[in-house]
Parts: sequence; structure tokens; C-alpha cells
Amino acid sequence: MAAAIETTKLTKGYKSRIHGTVNVVDKLDLHVEEGEIFGFLGPNGAGKTTTIKMLLGIIYPTSGEGYVLGKEIGDMDVHRLISYVPERPYYYEYMTGMELLKFYGSLFGITDVKKFEALLEKVNLHRDASKTISQYSKGMQQRVGLAQSLLNDPKLLFLDEPTGGLDPIAHREIRDLILSFRDEGRTVFISSHELSEVELICDRVAIINRGVIERQGKLSDLLSGGRVEISAEGVPTQFISDMKINDANVRAIPGGVLLDMPEEADITAVIDAVRAQKGKLLSIVPRKKRLEDLFVETVRDKSVAPAAAKKTLTVESGDKP
Ligand SMILES: Nc1ncnc2c1ncn2[C@@H]1O[C@H](COP(=O)(O)OP(=O)(O)OP(=O)(O)O)[C@@H](O)[C@H]1O
Ligand SMILES: [Mg+2]
Repeated sequence: MAAAIETTKLTKGYKSRIHGTVNVVDKLDLHVEEGEIFGFLGPNGAGKTTTIKMLLGIIYPTSGEGYVLGKEIGDMDVHRLISYVPERPYYYEYMTGMELLKFYGSLFGITDVKKFEALLEKVNLHRDASKTISQYSKGMQQRVGLAQSLLNDPKLLFLDEPTGGLDPIAHREIRDLILSFRDEGRTVFISSHELSEVELICDRVAIINRGVIERQGKLSDLLSGGRVEISAEGVPTQFISDMKINDANVRAIPGGVLLDMPEEADITAVIDAVRAQKGKLLSIVPRKKRLEDLFVETVRDKSVAPAAAKKTLTVESGDKP
């Protein structure tokens, strides 16, 4: 699959009075595939917005290079094919939702009222088309922003913190909209620290910390390494130990035995063995690795040991982190 975004050592430095030049984005190698939802994660100040602005050609990199939809960043032709919803969008508050779409549509030479109506319907604002932006809630403003971002029928959307400060229902609405963008064949680049959200919708993610990408890869690969706990009664502890399951811990618990093993180990074999012993299974509990664990692990490690912060770990399907 073709790359929607590809950067090599993309760097942005700002002069600081105290520290000289500080690279707030440092030698970024980013790879986003066409048609995927890509999560760009990092704590406050990590360099997410700065990266997006470089990819959009709003600010210039200090060094390195990048390609968006096959064109070098800054190429004006690409602007017809991409769109951007900033983290703090500013809209003219006196405009209605419909007027806002008409205004931004006119910048692309689009005057088709039917298209504006369809977009308002898509984001569930068709009943509020004549309310002004100042009368819109935060969630409604976010949704009108997404409608606006679809005006030019973009192949690639940049959404900077699309669910920041929204309630759970608004979250779900935005999430469904983003998923529909992927179904329509668009690539979506989301910057966020709403990890549970990202976990639900993103195909691949990168974690950036202090301007450096620490992890990048398929979410399923990055979150591999989960465990499963099986408890049973009527089976001798030694019997389970004798199964010699790799990387497993077996211990006696009141009334039975508890086995803790990697999620990829053969669970069926354990169940069969318990049954063969006429034992009784009490529980099978998967302990999935969560994105939050990975994020905290990644970010905390680096704040403890900044000297190690230069290492970038790239994980693709089939590799282990
Ligand atoms: N124009 C600028 N001049 C100097 N430093 C800047 C400038 N713009 C951003 N920075 C610094 O770059 C770093 C990264 O900022 P950026 O806005 O990219 O972070 P972010 O990851 O988007 O954070 P947040 O989650 O809070 O939005 C911060 O330390 C910020 O102070
Ligand atoms: Mg930001």
C-alpha cells in the first residue's frame, strides 16, 4: 500500500534564550499508509501540533524531509487533497452552520447547497443549520469543523485533538464519523492523548515524547504480550507445572490452582488437561495490554532517563517490540 505520509529525519528547532536551539521535533521518521487511521500520541508539549503544521506546510522544517500523498511537504497542489481541523478551531461566531459551509466552500469554488445540506446531515447538524456558531455546543462546533473539513472531499484529513473536552456521547459521535471517513477510503491522521479512543479506532500509532518517536507500529503488534489467567479446582498444582508452558507461573490458591501464562500459549490444551483430570475450570481471564500501559511505560521511562530518549523502536506486523 502506498504511503500517505512519509518523513525522514524531519526536525523543527526553535531558538531559546537559555538553551540555544531546541529541537521540539527531532529527526522524525513517520510512516502513514493510505486508507488507515493513524494515531499520533504524546503528552502535552511532545511536538504533535508542530509536526502537523510542518506536514501541512504551515511552518518550515529546520531539516529533514517529508512527503504527503507523494508530494514534498509545502507543495501547494496537495492542499486540494487534504484538510485540517486544528486543536482550537476559530470560526466566525455570528455565522450559522450553513453560512460557515458556504463561506469555506466558496474558497474551493463550491456553491452547491445540496452538498452543504448533505454534509450537515452527515454530521447530524441538519436540524441546527440555522443556529449560529455561538449557539453551538463544543461537540456541535467539533462536528461542524468535520463537515467543513470534508468540503473538498479530502484524501487525507489531519485532526488535531478531535475529541478534546467532549462528553462521552459526543466522543462516540466523533468516533463514528472518523470511522466513516476510513470506510470512504480516506486516510485520517489524528493527534490525541485520548488513549481509549485511539485504541478503538486506530490501525497504527506512533508515540512521540519530547520531539522523538519512541514507538511506531501496528496497534495489535504494539499491544501484543498480554497474559491469560486460568483458575481451576480439583487439579494438582504439580500437574499444571508439569505441562511446562513457556513463561507461565503456576501457584496454589485456596481451593485450587492459578495459572498465569502468555496469551499466545495453548489455552485449549490447558482446558483439555483440566477436564482429563476431572477438574473444574473456575475462570479464564484475559489480561490484555492496554494502550494506556504502553503510553505510560514509554513516556515515564524517558522522563526518568532522558539520555535514552534517542532510541526509536519501529514495530511492523510480525515483529515484536
Ligand atoms: N513558535 C514556537 N516557538 C517556540 N517554541 C514553540 C513554538 N511552537 C511550539 N513550541 C514548543 O514546541 C513544543 C511542542 O509543542 P506542540 O504544540 O507541538 O506540542 P503538542 O504535542 O501539540 O502538545 P499539546 O498536547 O499540549 O497540544 C512545546 O515545548 C512548545 O512550547
Ligand atoms: Mg497540540
